[in-house]
Amino acid sequence: MDSGKLITFEGLDGCGKSTQLEKATDWLNAQGYSVLKTRQPGGTIIGQQIRSILLNPEHEELQPESELLLYLADRIQHLQELILPAKTAGKIVLCDRFHDSTVAYQGYGRGLNLNSIESIVAHCIKPYAPDLTILLNISPETVASRLECRQEHAEKDRLDLESLSFFKRVAQGFQELAATEPDRFICINGEQDIEDIHLQIVNILQQRLQLS
Ligand SMILES: Nc1ncnc2c1ncn2[C@@H]1O[C@H](COP(=O)(O)OP(=O)(O)OP(=O)(O)O)[C@@H](O)[C@H]1O
Ligand SMILES: [Mg+2]
Repeated sequence: MDSGKLITFEGLDGCGKSTQLEKATDWLNAQGYSVLKTRQPGGTIIGQQIRSILLNPEHEELQPESELLLYLADRIQHLQELILPAKTAGKIVLCDRFHDSTVAYQGYGRGLNLNSIESIVAHCIKPYAPDLTILLNISPETVASRLECRQEHAEKDRLDLESLSFFKRVAQGFQELAATEPDRFICINGEQDIEDIHLQIVNILQQRLQLS
């Protein structure tokens, strides 16, 4: 039995996942917890290579089904190489995006039928579902302004180029996922101040991890 936890951060592009994950990591470390901070796609060496294929804006030929399988391949590597060993070692794993993003983006956003991957998901991913998922909600209209003001990427990546209607479908997908698993999902209004959101996340971590 492992004693660690997998906590995922989900939501639209620019909703504040990386910002909040960083702050939550610092807070957990300050409490003396051992934390692994990671992200999908790209938490492993193989995952980094998959990530560079997925996010390269020149890859216009990438077929939706290929994209889906690349995300799955990355997730399986990530689980087996990093997340599960870290949980077994008692770490709190904070992961920037996980399988909910695949369902929201590829399923709802691109309209792919995910039944074709269901047996892989059932065997390789669902048994290791996150203990907690923090969903940061921003309106689809906010996505563009958040990405514009972000300093870390000088060039837009492939996903940043998606349309407003795409993000509306993805947002709907996240809402439906959260509604089906209300115990796993905590939904937070991502349009609040960064510090206010952080305090709400700390509160949830205290409850869920039984920290004081
Ligand atoms: N609550 C907030 N209010 C205003 N701006 C914010 C807030 N949270 C994050 N930002 C800013 O929005 C931009 C995107 O934030 P961040 O990179 O954390 O989002 P993300 O969800 O990780 O995005 P991506 O999905 O593209 O990785 C950054 O410039 C960040 O400083
Ligand atoms: Mg990010």
